[in-house]
Amino acid sequence: MDRRAALAEMSAFAHALPRDPSPGAADLLAFRRGMRALAGAVTVLATRLGDERWGLTATAICSLSAEPPRLLACINQRGASFAAFRESRLLSVNVLAENQFAVAERFAGLDGSAEDRFAAGVWRDGAVEGLPVLADAAATFECRVPELIDAGTHAILIGDILTVRSAPEARPLLYCDGRFTGVADEIFDPRYGFQF
Ligand SMILES: Cc1cc2nc3c(=O)[nH]c(=O)nc-3n(C[C@H](O)[C@H](O)[C@H](O)COP(=O)(O)O)c2cc1C
Repeated sequence: MDRRAALAEMSAFAHALPRDPSPGAADLLAFRRGMRALAGAVTVLATRLGDERWGLTATAICSLSAEPPRLLACINQRGASFAAFRESRLLSVNVLAENQFAVAERFAGLDGSAEDRFAAGVWRDGAVEGLPVLADAAATFECRVPELIDAGTHAILIGDILTVRSAPEARPLLYCDGRFTGVADEIFDPRYGFQF
């Protein structure tokens, strides 16, 4: 297709879109269906506030920048754990290995106290202010949180990464289409003739 035809096609597509949709107007069901396709690595976000440990299961995590090393995490401000993160300004991100789904379930559960959740998995005190870190996780990042952005129901935590541990042989636990799953061994695409 030449450039002119491609532009015409793009323009037709743009005109097919609803005009000026108001922000946040997408249908909730459609939003949920779309998000089910967004496979995410399952993590437990944890913090320490004095003697108290707090943590929750989360997939809303991503790399922000390499220089400086930073990540971001989104936490529901109405959850029981949020206030501890806001107070401490400390965050550990524990990327769960495939065999740690029981930890994911425990930290997503509404039952028990915050401390009860740490009975799932083996937790140690990390190098940064004794942040809880999960043994045998696929990776763990210990962070300070210089910035916390209010984004409605959720807050975006910017984490300055101070320490990183990773276990390259561990396979990460994923959440996709409403269930826990794992990574396929490889994808072979004959169009490109290589494996990636
Ligand atoms: C797979 C999965 C991913 C989740 N991702 C997030 C997330 O990114 N942010 C969040 O605030 N809650 C997330 N949750 C929900 C919390 O884990 C859950 O509401 C938890 O009970 C909150 O704990 P809290 O009330 O102690 O804060 C997720 C739950 C599951 C099962």
